[in-house]
Amino acid sequence: MYKQKMIYFGGDYNPEQWDEETIRKDMELFKKAHVNLVVLPVFGWAKLEPEEGVYDFDWLCRIVDMLWENGIRVLMATPTTAQPAWMSKKYPEVLPVDIKGRKRTHGMRVFFCHNSKKYRERAAALAEEMASRFASHPALAGWHVANEYGTYCYCPTCQAKFREWLKKKYKTPEGLNEAWNLAFWGRQIYSFEEMELPTELNDDYRFYPPIQQDYLKFTTDSVIECFENEYRVLKKYTPDLPVMTNMSGYIKKLDQFELCKHLDVVGWDNYPWPFEDRSLAALKHDIMRGLKQGQSYWVTEQSPNQQNWQPYNVLKRPGEIRRLAYQGLAHGADTALFFQMRQSAAGQEKFHGAMISHAGHENTRIFREMTRMGEELEKLGDRLVGARTRSKVGLIFDWHNWWAVELCSGPSKDLQYLPQVQKYYKAFYEKNIPVDILRYDQDLSGYDLILTPCLYQMRGDLGERIKTYVKNGGTLLTSVFSGIARENDRVILGGYPGGLREVLGIWIEETDALPPHMNNRMRMVKGTGFPEEAYDCSMLYDLIHPEGAETLAVYEREFYAGMPCATVNAYGKGKAYYVGTDPEQSFIDALAERICGEAGLCPPIPAPEGVECTRRDTKDRSFYFIINHRQDPAKVSLPEGLACAFTGEPRQGEQELAAGDVWILEKKNQE
Ligand code: GLA
Ligand code: ZN
Repeated sequence: MYKQKMIYFGGDYNPEQWDEETIRKDMELFKKAHVNLVVLPVFGWAKLEPEEGVYDFDWLCRIVDMLWENGIRVLMATPTTAQPAWMSKKYPEVLPVDIKGRKRTHGMRVFFCHNSKKYRERAAALAEEMASRFASHPALAGWHVANEYGTYCYCPTCQAKFREWLKKKYKTPEGLNEAWNLAFWGRQIYSFEEMELPTELNDDYRFYPPIQQDYLKFTTDSVIECFENEYRVLKKYTPDLPVMTNMSGYIKKLDQFELCKHLDVVGWDNYPWPFEDRSLAALKHDIMRGLKQGQSYWVTEQSPNQQNWQPYNVLKRPGEIRRLAYQGLAHGADTALFFQMRQSAAGQEKFHGAMISHAGHENTRIFREMTRMGEELEKLGDRLVGARTRSKVGLIFDWHNWWAVELCSGPSKDLQYLPQVQKYYKAFYEKNIPVDILRYDQDLSGYDLILTPCLYQMRGDLGERIKTYVKNGGTLLTSVFSGIARENDRVILGGYPGGLREVLGIWIEETDALPPHMNNRMRMVKGTGFPEEAYDCSMLYDLIHPEGAETLAVYEREFYAGMPCATVNAYGKGKAYYVGTDPEQSFIDALAERICGEAGLCPPIPAPEGVECTRRDTKDRSFYFIINHRQDPAKVSLPEGLACAFTGEPRQGEQELAAGDVWILEKKNQE
């Protein structure tokens, strides 16, 4: 397999928008900034294939040669995200139908049906043309298929394929009726032909959850097929080069664990909102590292400056792009790629930041900041590539559960999966305790602590595996609206939380869901050692009967005042914590503090609040990333044997890290 020889630095470049002279100038600027890789031609299909089967590759070949003459590699994009207008016109089946039943017309990107035969045929033919031309080009570093897949389609082709998909899964209409409990509202079918795609034409806002969930699985499968349609062709020509696609930062729409099984390397586009909590970007990075069980991943896009599509497009503050890019490296990325290299002169994204701005030269703040990074990353060479994160905390993250929680009619419209996960993740992130994101069926045994926030739907034998894990000495922390349903969104009967009742040692009789202005308080039971006596809690309130569990906190108000809302249960050699409401962050932080103490979890290097610290290891080296997110300098006490990974200068003892600054420190480990 291809060995990545450097941290890739560069990003999307759209030379099809520029003349020769500008392109020549760009080469100079790329060299100045130490760019080592560009992604192109993401939107070049219409230029490469002006009419069906007629190809014009000369311009692209010239640019790829020019890049290589300047020592720059290419992550070659099959530009299949935006089919040419002639194709939509000639083969209208290529265009998607939306959830409202509207047949879309040509004009937008990612505006094609994943299941369209014609689309797949033409996309594979284009991939073949590209691969046959560039397979042996020395600049080629890998393939980037399409761009941010994920348009839902409800066209007749998808309708027919969905029926086939259901038939394969459920065999008979009776099997389907049973699995989905279609006796509800008399929806039974007697032939698969009677099954419609879930659109706004046949359903209202209370979409029938199992149909929706299967539609989302079906869409994931369709996208996988669509990706593989090109993957197969590309691999035939370049079996050793990585083939991937860049996933959108908005990650709910496809089961990315499933999709990523089919990619050689995970790629994602990181666009944090300017004012969001920094733990969210960290969580997303960790999710990406989790998608291939800890394998390092690529950040394929991030913005070198403000975006154009946010309501307020805040400039990136001095040092911010470096801090965000290095946060990626800190969590497991092997690239720092940006959208985009040169800012477009027109079009929707003309005001989207770029390394080369409309000014067109290098005398800009952003160009200087990019150049500094380019120089630094060049000095890292390939030493960091493939380094792994070691973690004793695992967090189970499941797309099917995400869909199920948010498709659910009740108990509260405010319940969203990602914010719940983020709260529990944040408590450990702020303490710099590394967290691995785990697939629902991954082995739990190597972890000291497993987090399963809001794990409403328990798939497969997860419930049993959690029991075994705790019995053998593991610690579990789970939270409200967990363990309630199994696959196909069927409630586990016999008392909540069915799937976790035994291990948690509780029975939840009912769950109250109050509007935001009616929140409650949780009072800590004396002697539990929590810093505060009481905390706010909101949204959901389980009415818990302990069945062996110890009560940590009780409600202060409502008719269930005095009933438990947080518990811990000794089970086998381990213990299982439960939080039956949505507490304020400081409670979760205090709980995390207690659990870290019990389980002996510590950060790679102790650091003050607001300073992020992670570690990645290769066979013979450890890399420490220390990121000061604060507005003021921070003191960090460094262990012996560390040196700046860029300059080799030793760094140990008490050191001051400037506001917003990042250190990447390296330590050689004894063989
Ligand atoms: C996405 C796309 C890019 C570009 C950027 C702008 O991630 O993949 O083509 O539109 O957003 O932020
Ligand atoms: Zn379709």
